[in-house]
Amino acid sequence: MRNERGAVVPAEIVGLGTAVPQYVLTNADLEQLVDTNDQWITERTGIKERRIAGRDESTGSLGRQAAERALAVAGVDAADIDLLIVVTASPDHLLPSASCILQLELGLNRCAAMDVIAGCAGFVYGLATASRFVESGAFETALVVGAETLSRITDYTDRSTCILFGDGAGAAVLRRGERGIRAFSLGSDGTRSRLLFTPAGGTRFPATARTVEERRHYIVMEGREVFKGAVTAMAASSLEAIERSGLTPEDIDLVVPHQANQRIIEATARRLKVSRSDVVMNIARYGNTSAASIPLAIAEAWEQGQIRPGHRLLLTAFGAGLAWGSLVLDWTLEPPTTPSPEEPTLSALPIVRGLIDGSLWADVDMEPATRRGPAPQETAEGAT
Ligand code: ACO
Repeated sequence: MRNERGAVVPAEIVGLGTAVPQYVLTNADLEQLVDTNDQWITERTGIKERRIAGRDESTGSLGRQAAERALAVAGVDAADIDLLIVVTASPDHLLPSASCILQLELGLNRCAAMDVIAGCAGFVYGLATASRFVESGAFETALVVGAETLSRITDYTDRSTCILFGDGAGAAVLRRGERGIRAFSLGSDGTRSRLLFTPAGGTRFPATARTVEERRHYIVMEGREVFKGAVTAMAASSLEAIERSGLTPEDIDLVVPHQANQRIIEATARRLKVSRSDVVMNIARYGNTSAASIPLAIAEAWEQGQIRPGHRLLLTAFGAGLAWGSLVLDWTLEPPTTPSPEEPTLSALPIVRGLIDGSLWADVDMEPATRRGPAPQETAEGAT
């Protein structure tokens, strides 16, 4: 849609919220599980700890918490959402979509709901997709939720991957506004899809006793190749998105990169000639949370006053696919008046031990698949 001056009315982020599990897995914990050490993990990745979902948490439940917080910040009622996009690499189920599971969690049943799958680049892809629908007038209010429980597809006996990943969720509410999302650049390269993938558990190699026995349901990765591809693609797509936005690199106030690895972030910043202080980084506490990492990083910097109204942000991400994307936006949201309360934490070690041998769900009734069952009156009617 265009304003009276003929300019496109951009999609603006009017609400932001996040959620992380209370269970913390430290580098010292990982030393007890695999042949690794805090020094190696810190030097090679910058990660100190990551969050792990509890037994009763899921991508859907973390997504719901983040979404409810974002809606509260926006002052928007859930019923006003007419487009719901969930970006995730770790949905609750193969079928139906993660967005329909989140609809159920949020108590919605009318809005359009779809999943966007682009690995760690998912949140940028999701924002870009939602922004076009909102700008065009096809939808008034979009909710984009990046939510992950990567711990469920991480092999905690594989030291090359289990040190990296964590769980969490972030959500943004989009509406047309004066200033907002300016431009983006998205790309992908399926010829490199085998650098980072889960070999079994999909329809190519469905779950069988053999796939479970051989631990083929977990992420496998050629880390060094992914690393090289990440820096090249994030830098190139960042420059393309900046150019499309009508700005120059000097106009960007802050870069919010996908939190994959501190060395990837620093190498990308060097290519973009951005100083360390202009790069948002919180990887030390959350590790790589894939589609949740950018909203988690934005939210923290916004709460701490590092991101302020008037800032021009560059978001850039890269991940499985391989897929990458960058997006330039004007930030307009005032910082929250009350900071998020510090939640108490617990050790995730017992949960991870239960993930390794499967005992975490040994005594769990797998019905119902989601925690929100039928509405109370339906249950009552059904009972009479
Ligand atoms: N502890 C100790 N030693 C280790 C560990 C560990 N946890 N992991 C690997 N090593 C060893 C290797 O065995 C190797 O030993 P060798 O030289 O004797 O063979 C040595 O350390 C170096 O291994 P590399 O794999 O070359 O280490 P590198 O410096 O590349 O770091 C890492 C590995 C951290 C995985 C890095 O490659 C990386 O971050 N890659 C990108 C990952 C990423 O960003 N993924 C993207 C998105 S994820 C998504 O889309 C869901």
